[in-house]
Order: sequence, then structure tokens, then C-alpha cells
Amino acid sequence: MNSIQTLLTTQQRWLVTGCAGFIGSNLVEALLKADQLVVGLDNFATGYQRNLDEVKALVSPQQWANFRFINADIRDLDACQQACSGVDFVLHQAALGSVPRSIADPVTSNATNISGFLNMLLAARDAGVKRFVYAASSSTYGDHPALPKVEDVIGKPLSPYAITKYVNELYADVFSRSYGFHSIGLRYFNVFGPRQDPNGAYAAVIPKWTAAMIANQDVQINGDGETSRDFCFVANAVEANIKAALADIKQSEVFNVALGDRTTLNELFAAIATSLRDNGVQYSKTPLYGPFRQGDVRHSQADISKAQQILGYAPQYRLRDGLVLAMPWYLQQQ
Ligand SMILES: NC(=O)c1ccc[n+]([C@@H]2O[C@H](COP(=O)([O-])OP(=O)(O)OC[C@H]3O[C@@H](n4cnc5c(N)ncnc54)[C@H](O)[C@@H]3O)[C@@H](O)[C@H]2O)c1
Repeated sequence: MNSIQTLLTTQQRWLVTGCAGFIGSNLVEALLKADQLVVGLDNFATGYQRNLDEVKALVSPQQWANFRFINADIRDLDACQQACSGVDFVLHQAALGSVPRSIADPVTSNATNISGFLNMLLAARDAGVKRFVYAASSSTYGDHPALPKVEDVIGKPLSPYAITKYVNELYADVFSRSYGFHSIGLRYFNVFGPRQDPNGAYAAVIPKWTAAMIANQDVQINGDGETSRDFCFVANAVEANIKAALADIKQSEVFNVALGDRTTLNELFAAIATSLRDNGVQYSKTPLYGPFRQGDVRHSQADISKAQQILGYAPQYRLRDGLVLAMPWYLQQQ
């Protein structure tokens, strides 16, 4: 029995929005494997049916029978209300991710990430769910230079995406004060793992580079490679979600979800090359260095002590563990 199954001893009903996406589909997989009832909502804006098919193949037929999918858009309040009906816990992941996407099209990011978020918060409140846990973001730290990042010390947002994620936290706080509806925001720091989309202009660095290296293509580093991030394997984020849902908290809170480590892009490049080599793939090109990317912060590293103390968050997987576990999936995509 894994640690999630140990936490979930009775069967409850969960709503996972963004269930066809990367983190959402990993949440669905973990919950179904723990014999929970799961409703998933997605409009396939950036998610895929193949992610749900993959989850289906990884759970038993009985567990899959506990899953119900709703093809809907969180910008539709009725759909959010229907999805929340009879649900114990909401894990709200649906949003348009990516800083550059929000710079290219702030209106759509705003509509999904703010109006859609408000719809979900309202629907969850009205349905009387036990807990609303939502995907917040490390982008909320903005231009504040302090390291490591502590939850209550934030700067100015550096992108439209960062604004949307910060507004989510403000709404959650106001719902707590105005309606006594308490929720938990998880500020994810660069989550990675199986089913994170390696394709497209807005792909995250780990799946994008790994796919390029498997195909023996060039890897482009934005800046000098000394930009650093706190990379977090998706199983750690899943653990944080379940613990947040079950936590006995009487006000709205936000928590960093990461490892508390800092890895530079140059180090990351070397770690992926090593992990590929361990899987029989040799990559001998050196990376190409380009300009810094607009809206990116230079360094990011979380202080995870608040989540450790209050949620009992105890991340099991370090960057290299996560790369080892995710590598077979990346290799299968080729
Ligand atoms: N991956 C990370 O490193 C990271 C870091 C910080 C925050 N986050 C947040 O975590 C959440 C999940 O991110 P992810 O990496 O799994 O991204 P993803 O793009 O793989 O998943 C997002 C899912 O939401 C769905 N979606 C988008 N707009 C929708 C809408 N209007 N209605 C219904 N569904 C919609 C997409 O189709 C997709 O399946 C997002 O809220 C994101 O902002 C992710």
C-alpha cells in the first residue's frame, strides 16, 4: 500500500478539474488507485484524451468504473455547479498555464484562470464541499528577490499569468472572510513527470528538453544557464493535494509545494543527459544559449517548512528520482 492509499481509508467523492492535463491526470490516477470515486472535468484546451486513456490502462477495471468524466469549460458556471454536486473534495487544476502564453493572449488566460476560478469557488461553496484545494503558483513571488521563498513575502507579478494566480489567492481569502468558505492554495514550483506535454510553443523545460535530446536535436537554454528552479516531481504534488484536502484548517491558506532545492538549467541539462544515458540514449551535443525569456524570474527556491509543519507534507522524490521514474514515459513518446 502506498502513502496515498494509507491516507484514504474511506471512499469519498473527489472532483478533479483539468483532469485530462498533466497534474490533473496524475491526481485522478492516484485517487482511483486508492479506490476513491472521482469526477473529472476538462475541456481539452491543453489536456488530452490520451492522458485519460493512459490512466484507464494503469488502474483496474473496477477502479476505472469509479471515474466519471464531464467535458465542460470552467467558464460555464452551470457546468461547475453540476460538477460540484455531491462532491466531498475539489482539487481544482484547470487553468491555462505558461507565462509566455499569457503574455501572447492575456484575455483568454484571464477568462479561464480568474473567471473560471471564481465559478469553481462559487460552485464549491454552494455545494458545501468539505475542502477546495486549488493550483496556485510560485509565479506569485514575482519580482521579490528573497530566497528561499516564504509564503507571505511576495513581490509584484511579472506576467499576466502571475496576476491570475495571485488573484485566485485573493478570491480564496475573501471567500474565507466573507462566507466562511476555507480553501487551500498550493503554490507549485516547476512540477514535472509523466504526461506533462513535451510539445508546442509552451512546453515546460523538462519534457521539452528530454524530447529534443531523445530525438538528438539541439537544446536551447534561455539565458546563461545559471537561472535556477526548484523542480518538483508530480508525485510530491499529488501527496500535497491529498494532505491539503484532509487537513484540519479553519481558514484559507497557501503553501509552497516543491522540494526546497535549487537546480540551475545547466545542472538540469546534465541530469537529463545522465538519466538518458542510464536508459541507453547518448546525447553528445552541447546546449545553445539564447536570450533570457521575458517574464521569467532568475531564481526560484521554496521554503517548504509551512507545508511540512501544517500539512505533514514530506516529499519523497528528489529531482533525480523523478527523472528516473519519468524517463520510461518520455522514451515511450518517441
Ligand atoms: N506544471 C507546473 O509546473 C505548474 C506550476 C505552477 C502552477 N501550475 C498550475 O497547475 C495546474 C495544472 O497544470 P498542468 O501543468 O497540469 O497543466 P495542463 O495544461 O497539463 O493541465 C491543465 C488542464 O486544464 C484544462 N483546462 C484549461 N482551460 C480549461 C477550461 N476553461 N475549462 C476546463 N478545463 C480547462 C486543460 O485542458 C488541461 O487538461 C494549472 O492550474 C497550472 O496553472 C502548474
